Amino acid sequence: MSRRRRCPSYEDAMCPRTREALEEAIRGEAEAIRFYGHLIEMAPDQFQKDVIIGIRNDEARHLNNFQAVYCRLMGCTYDYPEPHVRRPKNYCQGLIDAFNDEQEAYEFYKANYFCNRDPWVKKAFLDAMLDESEHAQWFNNFIVRNGCFRGFKLGVGETFEEEPASEVLLD
Ligand SMILES: [Fe+2]
Ligand SMILES: [Fe+2]
Repeated sequence: MSRRRRCPSYEDAMCPRTREALEEAIRGEAEAIRFYGHLIEMAPDQFQKDVIIGIRNDEARHLNNFQAVYCRLMGCTYDYPEPHVRRPKNYCQGLIDAFNDEQEAYEFYKANYFCNRDPWVKKAFLDAMLDESEHAQWFNNFIVRNGCFRGFKLGVGETFEEEPASEVLLD
């Protein structure tokens, strides 16, 4: 008789409390809207401006939907603090910051999508998650298109030196 093997446990994402997660999402969306206002002004051509305007419209929809879900759960919308967002020092730095923020938001929304059961909460996180992934791809495209990677790799005030090979000590 063969022994039955136990199934491995499913490694689920850690689930932060829904209220705090929604508040963090709302603050993040409000900051993104403000930040993309700066990037739209700095974009070098109309195509890039239009894409970022579209992205900012998505963030406004996410903000609205997260507030709608929050209101259903808590009975009122979240009175979030005024976002303090600095204008990036140049367009490339702004694109890199935007790319990183979109990636972070994607991970955060994914975790919350999988660990919440309420269909309204899941829907809001899924919708935003899919958009943030697309936004990250656009920013990655613009980083390449504007030659940002090379500029930053060669270092604005930074030098890259080869690390000395670590010595291998033998007995
Ligand atoms: Fe968003
Ligand atoms: Fe986004």
